[in-house]
Amino acid sequence: MSLSSPQQYWWDEPLDQHEKNWLWVAGIFCVIITLAMPYWHYTGDQNPSQEYTKITNEKFDALTDKFIGQYKVGEEAGIAVVAPPPNTNVFVRAHQFGWEPILKLQKGKTYKFHLGSTDMNHGFSIQPINMNFQVVPGWDNILNITPTTTGVFLIVCNEYCGLGHHTMIGKMYVD
Ligand code: CUA
Repeated sequence: MSLSSPQQYWWDEPLDQHEKNWLWVAGIFCVIITLAMPYWHYTGDQNPSQEYTKITNEKFDALTDKFIGQYKVGEEAGIAVVAPPPNTNVFVRAHQFGWEPILKLQKGKTYKFHLGSTDMNHGFSIQPINMNFQVVPGWDNILNITPTTTGVFLIVCNEYCGLGHHTMIGKMYVD
């Protein structure tokens, strides 16, 4: 077999039936994948709606400090432990490389979480359950959380944020 140039102007040829079939398959697949996004948004168990509003670092810092001061019940390794009542605003601050405060929540109660960062992008990943949210500086990332199981949960940063990224672990108790 020798290498020769393909027939000239091959791109000008009409489509082969096989090519047409695969274009239909690819097109239909695109439509299914697109419809799957709103479908899972409304029916999925792990796709809670998240809102974002703009906020300055200073304001988020002040709200978090106020929240900690209001509901602080102790300290663990120098980090405040906070037990907010149900249906309150809960502020969690991400920074290189940690989470503040440590939360004590009650099973079956709803809390309005505000996730914020004062330096860079972090990821709020609740372990061992598989939930992950972006924490973007300059934005108040709001979501309603209702714990359905008791235990100790770790908050693992899931967005590379620097040399200490792998050490960025927080904690949450659910009683
Ligand atoms: Cu914070 Cu990775």
